[in-house]
Amino acid sequence: MDNKPKIAFFQCQWCLYAPEDQEWVDSRLPENIHLIKVPCTGRIDPLFVLNAVQGGADGVVISGCLPEKCHFKEGNLAARRQLDSFSSFLDYIGYDQERVHFVWLDLQDRGRIQRELADFESQISRLGPAESLATRVPLKEGGAND
Ligand code: FES
Repeated sequence: MDNKPKIAFFQCQWCLYAPEDQEWVDSRLPENIHLIKVPCTGRIDPLFVLNAVQGGADGVVISGCLPEKCHFKEGNLAARRQLDSFSSFLDYIGYDQERVHFVWLDLQDRGRIQRELADFESQISRLGPAESLATRVPLKEGGAND
């Protein structure tokens, strides 16, 4: 697991229509993938992504509903535009744009999230670790840093 890329996975709580997919994400996600479930992709502040990057994520996946199926109307379109711009900014400061991946899921996309995560992990493995922006000192086990 140590040599596997660390991936932050932001998932809209509505986007996985198949209960098996949600169950897989909730309980069988590989250890190198850190799940952050959100009520809508429209609620993902770019600072959340920056926090993941500074915390050492080698890649970031954002999965949400198709724009026309977002529970909050155009919430995810606005998020997509904002996060696209933000990933360009991250690219500018050294975090390759290929490290941020969007997945928009529909009713018939049963099993797709597993394939998307596996493909993305392979892509990030090819790119190698993204260490340059991992600036935050991880907390010591069992308490705050001195
Ligand atoms: Fe899923 Fe908005 S409710 S992206």
